[in-house]
Amino acid sequence: MSAIRTAILGYGRSGSTMHAGAIEKNKAFQLTAVCDADAHARQKAAARFGCQPYADHRAMLKEEALDLAVIVTRSDQHCPMACDCLAAGVNVLVTKPWALNAEEAERMIRAAESTAKLLLPWLPARWGSDLRRLKQLVVEERVIGDVFLARRTVVSFGTRNDWQTSRRQGGGYLLNWGPHIVDPPLQLLGSPVKSVYGRLKQTINPGDVEDLFLGILTLANGAIVQAEFTIATEDPPQWFIQGTRGTIVVQGTHLKVNAKTPAQPANPTQSYTIKTDHGQIREEELTGAPQGDEHAVYGDVAAALSGQARFPVTPQSALELTRVLDAIRTSSMENRVVML
Ligand SMILES: NC(=O)c1ccc[n+]([C@@H]2O[C@H](COP(=O)([O-])OP(=O)(O)OC[C@H]3O[C@@H](n4cnc5c(N)ncnc54)[C@H](O)[C@@H]3O)[C@@H](O)[C@H]2O)c1
Repeated sequence: MSAIRTAILGYGRSGSTMHAGAIEKNKAFQLTAVCDADAHARQKAAARFGCQPYADHRAMLKEEALDLAVIVTRSDQHCPMACDCLAAGVNVLVTKPWALNAEEAERMIRAAESTAKLLLPWLPARWGSDLRRLKQLVVEERVIGDVFLARRTVVSFGTRNDWQTSRRQGGGYLLNWGPHIVDPPLQLLGSPVKSVYGRLKQTINPGDVEDLFLGILTLANGAIVQAEFTIATEDPPQWFIQGTRGTIVVQGTHLKVNAKTPAQPANPTQSYTIKTDHGQIREEELTGAPQGDEHAVYGDVAAALSGQARFPVTPQSALELTRVLDAIRTSSMENRVVML
């Protein structure tokens, strides 16, 4: 099979590292073109790959016979560029957040359907090592019974001063971090979101958009997900999962399962709380990439493009996530619970 003729749109921090690195290492791909508005970025890509550099993606689409366009530009540029590529008959992989809102996501889906090209949403956390292990423990082994509350938290005390602090350019940490934080617990619990309470806040970043978000989601099966990116100098656990038979905590790479079976009163008239003091504690160190391994994702991109397998992330499931992120924003702006 001939190599997948690939172009990167946006050879910036992510495009030149995570994506270029995975493409460089995978023989199924050949980076034939790069498009970046910045001359220095174009020059670096051309020197590294011997690829054709372009300043404008429409000019590139006219000149190049591409199989795949990888869109890693600013978040406000994803949807228009993806639609242009699809209209030119090119399959697209769109980094997260693939869209600013559900309306953009639906526009890309329509563009893919009308050209019968593949639209591949980049949600690498679905390949994450912690999610994979948690699925084994929670879903397959059911070590903590029925999960009623899953908290997922990512913390930083860093500030940034780039387009990620500009609303007009698609910045803000709900879009930037939401796909890594909100999506994994929903994948873990596998039940649709029914109601959403959200809070966005700008705390220490410059600009005009939030650097902190909190979402409280109630799922169809009754479980609650609390997902947040927050600003703090101390680390809470990244995962705190509560079930009817115990709790799982992930702190750094350390995973602890504390499994217990609640005691039942021997005497039904007994009314005080009975704690179970015997249980089973299991501890382990997680290995692998918690936010997902880009090489594994690119392996699945190649399989999808060659028709060997369906890509694990469907546009419909990425649209559902976008609707949840939209609802977190709407809830915060309108100070109400949003029903989905
Ligand atoms: N783990 C992840 O999945 C991950 C990590 C980081 C960033 N991202 C996403 O990748 C995207 C890019 O983020 P970044 O941090 O690399 O940003 P960046 O600013 O470093 O890179 C964006 C690049 O796009 C170029 N560009 C701007 N306008 C252009 C145009 N009209 N045509 C072509 N190129 C243009 C810029 O010159 C720059 O090189 C964002 O959407 C971000 O959310 C994903």
